[in-house]
Amino acid sequence: LELQMNLEEIEKGGYDHFMLKEIYEQPRAIKDTYRGRLLADQGLVKMSGIEQNMEKFINANRIIIVACGTSWHAGLVAEYIFEDLARIPVEVEYASEFRYRNPVITDKDVLIAISQSGETADTLAAIKLAKEKGAFVFGVCNVVGSSIARETDAGAYTHAGPEIGVASTKAFTTQITVLTLIALRLAKAKGEFSETKYREYLTELETIPSKVEKSLESNALIEIIADVYKDSTNCLYLGRGYNFPVALEGALKLKEISYIHAEGYPAAEMKHGPIALIDEHMPVFVIATKKGHYEKVVSNIQEIKSRKGKIIAIVTEGDEQVRDLADHVIEVPETLESLTPLLTTIPLQLLSYHIAVMRGCNVDQPRNLAKSVTVE
Ligand code: G6P
Repeated sequence: LELQMNLEEIEKGGYDHFMLKEIYEQPRAIKDTYRGRLLADQGLVKMSGIEQNMEKFINANRIIIVACGTSWHAGLVAEYIFEDLARIPVEVEYASEFRYRNPVITDKDVLIAISQSGETADTLAAIKLAKEKGAFVFGVCNVVGSSIARETDAGAYTHAGPEIGVASTKAFTTQITVLTLIALRLAKAKGEFSETKYREYLTELETIPSKVEKSLESNALIEIIADVYKDSTNCLYLGRGYNFPVALEGALKLKEISYIHAEGYPAAEMKHGPIALIDEHMPVFVIATKKGHYEKVVSNIQEIKSRKGKIIAIVTEGDEQVRDLADHVIEVPETLESLTPLLTTIPLQLLSYHIAVMRGCNVDQPRNLAKSVTVE
């Protein structure tokens, strides 16, 4: 037993928990994910699974993305990226709903299944159904040789390395990285991008690991913020556009490991319900990066403020407008709008982590949850 405990300490590499280690591994994990695939200086994206099946993607009626949990949130981010950059219609579905609702699938559809473990029962069943109906099925998995990786027609691994913490962190950002590479490659093949714009994206994607590194530097500030809100019973997370799925993911991380009730919402939907909950006891985490409907998010923040809600905003470096309104701001470096989820996610992961630790929760193995859900 002692030997096993020592082994675990070694595996944690000096961090208190696997989750924290995995949060800090993200700059490296993202780099590992695009290594050999993103050749920014040559203006190329190379992914064999895409090249070999280019016709299927280009001629697809639509892309259907199926996944569960955090992987489903990565799918939602991908919907924005694929539609915005590659101009391919996308639907994102919970695998568990898709498999049982007699979906309309044809051989002109491409199904992308996203799964860290590659073993999630519902996702696997959705793949089998889509294959039966003749769709082309592409997998985005982390675990090499997993059931989903074997069951799909083609795929791309995330190369995040083993993820031990039950709450997914580096799997999420590397899934987004792979899906961004795919969207860029398809956008290029479809002629949606000028060479200059394409190269701008590739070069910017290459700067993401160092910008994630920079985002991690807010850790001490985030710990202070965590201490202020650790006893909350409810939290709201808001974002728009590319950062709406990040709001959902932020809320999920908090629920999973700290057992605080949290809800993620598209900021504009706040007025259709959640605004009724806002008072001086309600912390509201708002993603308010520049670009991407910034002014509209600022007016959402004003609405929260006038109802005395506590505002914790994730902003772009140097932002002043939100700083004047919010109770706390956490900065992330500037990047292209479509790449912001890779940065805005980081402070929300750290925040959940610290709140859970302060509440004495078992961060790596939260109650009732499993890393890999192989039953439906
Ligand atoms: C479980 C895990 C989550 C994960 C989800 C989907 O609920 O606790 O962290 O996001 O399954 O798992 P997958 O391996 O398919 O990505």
